[in-house]
Amino acid sequence: MVSKGRSAILFAFVTCVASRFTPPSGVGVTAASLNVTPNRYIVETSSYSRRSFYDPHRKRDVSFAVNREFNVPEIFVGGVLEINDVSALSGIDGVVSVKPVHRYPAPKPVSLKTLTGPNDPMTPDPLSTHVLTGVDKAHAQGLTGKGITIGILDTGVDYKHPTLGGGFGSGFKVAGGYDFVGDNYDGTNTPVPGSDPLDQQVPLGEMNSIILTHHIGANPGNEYNIDGVAYRIFGCHGSTEDPVIIEALLRGYKGGLDILTLSLGGANGFSEAAASVVASRIAKTGKVITIAAGNDGELGPWYTSAPATGKDVISMGSVDNTITPIQNVTIHVNSEEVAPIPYFSVAPLTNRTTSFEIYATSTNTSSTDDACEPLPKDTPDLFNKVVIIRRGTCTFVLKCEHAAQFGAKPFLIYNDDRPFAAISSGNFTAALIQADTGAFLVNNFAQGKNVTVSFKIRPAELPNSDTGGLMSSFSSLGPSYESDFKPAISAPGGNIVSTLPLNKFGLSSGTSMATPFVAGSVALVLQARGKTPIVALAMRDLLKSTASPIASNLTDAKPLQTLIQAGAGLIQVDRAVNTKTIIQPGHWTLNDTTHFQPTQKFTLTNLGTEPVTYSLAHVPAGTIYTYTGLEVVLPPFELTTDHATVEFSETRLTVNPGTSCTVIAKFTAPPIYTKGYPAYSGHIEIANSVETLRVSYLGVLGSVHKQQLLDHSNDPFNVSLPFVQLPGGTIQNTTTKYTFANGDYPNLVSRLLYGSPQLTVDLVTADSKEGSSPKVVGNIVPGDVAPRTPAGEYLNITIVETFSNGTTIPDGEYRLFLKALKIFGKPDDLKGSETYLSPVVVKMPAPPSNKTRRHLESPLRRHWEGLR
Ligand SMILES: *[C@@H]1O[C@H](CO)[C@@H](O)[C@H](O)[C@H]1NC(C)=O
Ligand SMILES: *[C@@H]1O[C@H](CO)[C@@H](O)[C@H](O)[C@H]1NC(C)=O
Ligand SMILES: *[C@@H]1O[C@H](CO)[C@@H](O)[C@H](O)[C@H]1NC(C)=O
Ligand SMILES: *[C@@H]1O[C@H](CO)[C@@H](O)[C@H](O)[C@H]1NC(C)=O
Ligand SMILES: *[C@@H]1O[C@H](CO)[C@@H](O)[C@H](O)[C@H]1NC(C)=O
Ligand SMILES: *[C@@H]1O[C@H](CO)[C@@H](O)[C@H](O)[C@H]1NC(C)=O
Ligand SMILES: *[C@@H]1O[C@H](CO)[C@@H](O)[C@H](O)[C@H]1NC(C)=O
Ligand SMILES: *[C@@H]1O[C@H](CO)[C@@H](O)[C@H](O)[C@H]1NC(C)=O
Ligand SMILES: *[C@@H]1O[C@H](CO)[C@@H](O)[C@H](O)[C@H]1NC(C)=O
Ligand SMILES: *[C@@H]1O[C@H](CO)[C@@H](O)[C@H](O)[C@H]1NC(C)=O
Ligand SMILES: *[C@@H]1O[C@H](CO)[C@@H](O)[C@H](O)[C@H]1NC(C)=O
Repeated sequence: MVSKGRSAILFAFVTCVASRFTPPSGVGVTAASLNVTPNRYIVETSSYSRRSFYDPHRKRDVSFAVNREFNVPEIFVGGVLEINDVSALSGIDGVVSVKPVHRYPAPKPVSLKTLTGPNDPMTPDPLSTHVLTGVDKAHAQGLTGKGITIGILDTGVDYKHPTLGGGFGSGFKVAGGYDFVGDNYDGTNTPVPGSDPLDQQVPLGEMNSIILTHHIGANPGNEYNIDGVAYRIFGCHGSTEDPVIIEALLRGYKGGLDILTLSLGGANGFSEAAASVVASRIAKTGKVITIAAGNDGELGPWYTSAPATGKDVISMGSVDNTITPIQNVTIHVNSEEVAPIPYFSVAPLTNRTTSFEIYATSTNTSSTDDACEPLPKDTPDLFNKVVIIRRGTCTFVLKCEHAAQFGAKPFLIYNDDRPFAAISSGNFTAALIQADTGAFLVNNFAQGKNVTVSFKIRPAELPNSDTGGLMSSFSSLGPSYESDFKPAISAPGGNIVSTLPLNKFGLSSGTSMATPFVAGSVALVLQARGKTPIVALAMRDLLKSTASPIASNLTDAKPLQTLIQAGAGLIQVDRAVNTKTIIQPGHWTLNDTTHFQPTQKFTLTNLGTEPVTYSLAHVPAGTIYTYTGLEVVLPPFELTTDHATVEFSETRLTVNPGTSCTVIAKFTAPPIYTKGYPAYSGHIEIANSVETLRVSYLGVLGSVHKQQLLDHSNDPFNVSLPFVQLPGGTIQNTTTKYTFANGDYPNLVSRLLYGSPQLTVDLVTADSKEGSSPKVVGNIVPGDVAPRTPAGEYLNITIVETFSNGTTIPDGEYRLFLKALKIFGKPDDLKGSETYLSPVVVKMPAPPSNKTRRHLESPLRRHWEGLR
């Protein structure tokens, strides 16, 4: 059973500071402020000035519209403003911050397969993920999450799903909820709230919703008591935006929910995004917030997403499941049942439950070109038979086509020596079986035996011996541009069986799967240790310090996976529930070379009843060169064994029950070339006789401030970036006239090699010169954070006929001026930015036209939509 009352002494502090080194002094610099001027903003005000702020007489005749208000004094007070001249806000007393509104795409799994079979209560529920993470042991201790409420901010929930309780409201698993947006909301139009968060989107190709995975509330055959509250913040299509997320977060906070989980995000990389800030502040009050780290692993390092960038939230990476759920087929030989045969499919191959006789297109099990030619004319009618064909030489589709000419429907293809995996057979219903099981079927068939197969639901598992327990390749890599430790931690998210809307189950992958898994796990820890702010505030450290390290490869002695992808490791829930040693903090950020923080400390608290002796050791993870030349490295990632060294104030210490000790660690960065911004990381192991806890660390070599921001390469355009492109795609080399009407707009094309805390485009006078401060005529793209641009993509900003504030640009001669502030650069000092000044752009008198006012929108934001 779970021992009670631990939380009360979680921080019992009898400090025995034992230090040889001086502890680090406080780090004081905050992230770059956002002095921006778009026309739709989230404005934070100090609570005392809220009323006066909205008093139109104090607005100096600035016209604006408030389209949403927030008033939770301890978290966030302010509103969403539509305003033309946002610079007017800077003079107003009590304005704390002004931030552009960002959009976030709907949670999209990396891969999805839907189980089409009947909704059998025995639908696969592989416990492999529970074993991986110690959830099985926590369950065995009697923990169910009873009394804990999780708020899920997502596409809504199909609470009619039997596994999710079949209903909504008090007494149901989905105990409450709210629809903040309505079906038609797409992230650009006005949300229409309602009270019912029902989601019954049919997962058509692009999946709309996966919610409450069975790890939270939907464990068939098990009695769980976690309550879910579903907040619908996506419509049926498109994205959601900061104001909706903030409103849902605040509602969850005010509603007293214990855990909030968000499987959403968009590339951002900075901790100051509006939703990141609100999520982080709520976490600081003693709520646990889990947010997906993102599924952009293929885009390389330095690609974290908001709101997971929030400083105090838990951003979740994904680990591949140790098994792949597949199906077995039942076999009878001369009416006698023999051992079942696994075939590669998450759902039964057909929904016909009566048995089929088999037919083999060749009795030669070594034939390499089985069924690659049309079948002989004397082939019998194959309708009602399962046709067995050997893999090889020609496509699966061609083989099936040949058999289909005789009426064949389902097919089993037996493997040669290639890996056993899913196959693509076009419109044919076919699955792969293993070579030896194929030979078994064919040989019996050749002997004239009556071999029949039937495809009832028969879930089976296949060990994932290639990537099981390793980071999912899609899991996004950090760190944040401020070198913050992101992701925080990892959980199973690759090949997870989940509930789907409309009574379905499916196999899905994504950090969106890992995130609610952790929310459910946190519920178990809160139940065990007590649902108090102290425990909640310590949760991230607790999960980190009890996590297990993640290998980079299963097949050889490669170093541990870099923590810029793995975070502190794979959560171990039973250990987070039971450990009597509390380590804080759970991680250290050593920052880059310029801001190197070599001296760090942690506090170790012994909650047990006996003195405990701990010994310390350093276990480095692999170092990753995050850049090759000017571009980030792309997978497969190479890790080197170069590593930092660390000295401790003591390597062995005994801590009395109920007391704490502080240990100082002093790092020396790896003695390697700093070119390529190597990210080094690892764990400090703190072991006693029963368990090993860890503090994880992460540092970057080199000065990220010095990383070139603007790409100047001339590949593939034969002109160096950035440049201005005419509508037809021609590159503007000299003064060019545009009508700024009917599609005749200049396009400013650039790429960012690192994230910029503030990217701005202004229209400047034509006589502006490279290298000196240009004279600004008006703003085109208000300053906003911009993530680095992935390989092969471009930031393509169409300059329309208006300034960002909606006023029409007067006819005349101008240049475009793009300014990207460097990380840790000073906004007012041009040296802290990289810039581009375009050739002269002439705005001609517009042709007589029917004046239709364009809907104004930040072209930058529009572009971000296009990226995903
Ligand atoms: C083959 O076996 C199945 C059941 O295993 C039986 O239903 C069927 O009649 C048998 N067919 C022949 C030709 O014996
Ligand atoms: C079986 O599947 C077929 C085609 O996939 C479908 O037309 C039929 O309705 C299904 N039958 C049942 C009982 O679900
Ligand atoms: C079976 O097929 C293989 C490969 O095509 C061929 O080499 C072999 O001779 C065949 N065996 C028989 C008995 O036909
Ligand atoms: C599958 O069927 C659809 C509709 O009949 C057809 O358009 C498509 O080309 C087929 N795909 C393949 C791979 O045969
Ligand atoms: C599936 O088939 C394999 C191979 O015969 C067998 O080892 C396994 O136990 C079966 N699993 C189930 C759930 O039937
Ligand atoms: C790294 O150092 C810079 C400059 O002091 C600071 O702004 C930033 O927050 C630091 N990063 C982290 C994660 O502490
Ligand atoms: C592990 O290493 C082997 C040999 O270097 C390589 O072939 C394999 O792809 C690696 N596996 C993963 C998951 O990276
Ligand atoms: C930028 O957008 C314009 C207008 O849509 C298009 O013609 C041009 O090809 C785009 N350039 C790039 C590099 O994507
Ligand atoms: C500008 O120069 C590039 C490269 O020399 C060329 O491809 C492009 O056509 C030129 N554009 C114009 C408008 O002359
Ligand atoms: C919009 O910006 C332009 C250029 O800075 C300025 O001339 C104009 O007065 C502004 N319009 C409004 C309504 O603020
Ligand atoms: C208005 O402009 C659009 C787009 O250029 C054009 O298709 C339409 O014919 C114009 N209407 C009138 C009344 O001029």
